[in-house]
Amino acid sequence: MATLGIDFGTSNTAAGIAPDGVPQLIALEAEAQTLPTAVFFDADAKEMLLGAAASEALLAGAEGRYMRGLKSLLGTRLMRERRLLLGERLDFIDIVGRFLAAVKARAEAATGQKFDAALSGRPVRFHSADAARDAQALEDLREAYGRAGFHRVDFLNEPEAAALANRDALRPGDLGLVVDIGGGTSDFTLFRQGGGAEIDILASDGIRLGGTDFDRSLSIGRVMPQLGMGSEIRHAFGKDTHLAPNAIFNDLATWAKIPFLYGPETRRAAAELLKHAEHPKRLARLVKVLDEELGHDLAFAVEAGKIQANAADGEREPVIDVSMLKPRATLPLPRDWMRKRLEPLAEQIGAAAERTVQKAQLETAAVDRLIFVGGSSLMQVVEASLRARFPRAEVHRGAALTAIVAGLALRSADRG
Ligand SMILES: Nc1ncnc2c1ncn2[C@@H]1O[C@H](COP(=O)(O)OP(=O)(O)OP(=O)(O)O)[C@@H](O)[C@H]1O
Ligand SMILES: [Mg+2]
Repeated sequence: MATLGIDFGTSNTAAGIAPDGVPQLIALEAEAQTLPTAVFFDADAKEMLLGAAASEALLAGAEGRYMRGLKSLLGTRLMRERRLLLGERLDFIDIVGRFLAAVKARAEAATGQKFDAALSGRPVRFHSADAARDAQALEDLREAYGRAGFHRVDFLNEPEAAALANRDALRPGDLGLVVDIGGGTSDFTLFRQGGGAEIDILASDGIRLGGTDFDRSLSIGRVMPQLGMGSEIRHAFGKDTHLAPNAIFNDLATWAKIPFLYGPETRRAAAELLKHAEHPKRLARLVKVLDEELGHDLAFAVEAGKIQANAADGEREPVIDVSMLKPRATLPLPRDWMRKRLEPLAEQIGAAAERTVQKAQLETAAVDRLIFVGGSSLMQVVEASLRARFPRAEVHRGAALTAIVAGLALRSADRG
C-alpha cells in the first residue's frame, strides 16, 4: 500500500513521496510544485476545473462557480450545506473530496503508482477558539479523504513536517522554532536537532490566523468603504439614518465566504440598501459586485496589492487594482498604512510563537533559529514581530511553499 504525502493548504496544495529517503515533489499541474487550492464549476464545459485553470476561468469571466479557501470551512456548519453544481447536489465535503481525488489521480498518473493511503498535513488548530469545532474540522477532512478514494489517512501537524524537512538547518544540539504562516493558520513547532536523522519535538501550537486574514483586513480597510461599508442608510420612514450592516461586507472580504453571497437574498438586501443610501454611488458598486459576481476578482486584487506593498522595492506606489469596478481605477495601498493595519495581527502571531516555547517550559532566549516557512512568513510585519520577540535567534528561510510537503513525503516513506 503506497502512501502519498499531501499538504492540503488553504491557498496551495502539494503532494510528494520519498522513494529513496529524498523528498520528491509531484508536479500537480504544468511543472508547478504547488496547486492553488481552488475549484471552478464551469457551466459551459460542465466540468470541475482546479488549480490555476480554475482561477484563469474565473478571471476570464467564464460562466460558473469559483471557490477558494475551502479549508477554512472545515468544522463549520457550511461544510454540510448542499448546493446544486453542474446538476448534482454536493456538499462541501464532496467538493474537497473531489479536489483530493484529482490530486490522487494526478499523482498516480505522474508516478505510475497507486496510492491508497495518504499522510496529510493538518494545522495544529483549525479553530483556535473552539475545541469542538477543531475536532469536527479534522473529521470533515478525514471524510473528504475517504470520499476521494483513500482507504486510510493519517495526519501530521504541518509545522512538525516542516521541522523534519529542515532538520539540517540546525546544528546538533540547537533549538529551532518552525514558524509556518500560511493562508489560513499560523503554526509553530519547537524542536531540537539531536544529531541523527530524527529530531526531538518539544512543543507545537497554532492559531487560526493567516494571509487570508491579512487580505480581509486590508479589504475592509481600503475596499469595502468604497462599496458602502460604514456609510449611512436612511430609514424607510422618517429622516433618521443607520449604518449599512457589516455582515455582507465582512463576507465579501473573506475568501471562503464569497460564494455564499451570490444568492437572491443578499442581492435583495443590497438593492434595498441602495434604495435608501446617502451615498448611492458606493452602494451601486456593491450591487454591481453581487450582480456580476466580482467578489473573488476583488479578493485577488487585494491579495496582489498586499504582495506588492510588502515587496522591498519602493519605486511604484502600491495600489489595489479595482478596474473591475470602473475602468483603470485603483485604490492606493500605502506601505505605512498597511504595516499599521496588519501589526495587531502580526502581534497575535508573535504571541502564539512565544506561547509555543513556554509550553515546553523554555525561555524565548533559548531558541537558536527561527525557521520561516509558509507564504505569509514573507510578510515584513510578521518577520518584524518574530525578530523582536526572539532577538538572539538567527532567521533561516526554508522553502516557503514546499517545506511541509517535503516533510510529509519523508514521513510517508516510513509507512510504505
Ligand atoms: N510574496 C508574498 N508576500 C506576502 N504574502 C505572500 C507572498 N506569497 C504568498 N503570500 C501569501 O501566503 C499565503 C499562502 O501561503 P501558503 O501557500 O503557505 O498557505 P497554505 O499552506 O495554503 O495555507 P495554510 O497552511 O494556512 O492552510 C497567501 O495568503 C498569500 O497571499
Ligand atoms: Mg500551509
